[in-house]
Amino acid sequence: MQANDPYPDDMAVELLRWYRAMGVDEAVADTPQDWSSHNAERLAEVPLAPARPQTGARIAPPAARPAAPPPPAPPRTVHLPPADASTLAARELARDAPDLAALEAALAGFDLCPLKKTAKSLCFARGNPKARLMLIGEAPGRDEDLEGAPFVGRAGQLLDKMLASIGLGRDEAYITNVVYWRPPGNRTPTPQEVQACQPFLQRQIELVAPEVLLLLGGAAAKQLLATDQGITKLRGKWMSYEAGGRTIRTMATLHPAYLLRTPVAKRQAWRDLLMVKSVLDGTD
Ligand code: URA
Repeated sequence: MQANDPYPDDMAVELLRWYRAMGVDEAVADTPQDWSSHNAERLAEVPLAPARPQTGARIAPPAARPAAPPPPAPPRTVHLPPADASTLAARELARDAPDLAALEAALAGFDLCPLKKTAKSLCFARGNPKARLMLIGEAPGRDEDLEGAPFVGRAGQLLDKMLASIGLGRDEAYITNVVYWRPPGNRTPTPQEVQACQPFLQRQIELVAPEVLLLLGGAAAKQLLATDQGITKLRGKWMSYEAGGRTIRTMATLHPAYLLRTPVAKRQAWRDLLMVKSVLDGTD
């Protein structure tokens, strides 16, 4: 130990033990960063970023009744940011993918999303590509990064139970995220990272062509619905999303990770799932 060392050896070991007990599982960067105010916002599910305009999708306002044919999308004033090189490259690669296997291969060769540099695996999708229901979450976490598939950790286990509660097995849904690689330290993906992945997600939705899209949490809802409204306002209403010349019934609900932290909110998610079930059952 140096005379002026602020951390005696045993204190440093204690500090590491404490980090481990708090769930720290890796060093994300050389310089420490205070994520706490950011995480507090995530916990409260409040808007973190301004609305991010869509490139391929047009969103209609909430339909009064889900049974009615989705309303036509009204003209929207969308101020598109100048597409950067990564978005242009992503658009070209995604557009040319004739099927999901080609899209996954294109993503595997796409190096312009910065998340790819720090993640171990590409997490493309889980479930049945022929499913009538497609779910979109935020970003892979640690377990997903290790396994190379979305929603395989605790949030995924809860998601499986939620689907089972409306009679859907693991093979009756197709699941992905707005970004395909784990953000370091599980931080929220930046708008640039989401934009770089967006053309692939748009093409993935076109290729799966689900009857119903369920958006899990604020990040997916804001990105797909091109709004900066919070999830508490967006959830539980039928909206529509256009992909591949089709209008898809779309619902936003609370993210399973949020439900793990806030079990009392499960009853709202349950109501949303019942609405999804009635559309799938044709009883809405
Ligand atoms: N949370 C997500 O949004 N996606 C995953 O794949 C896992 C946890």
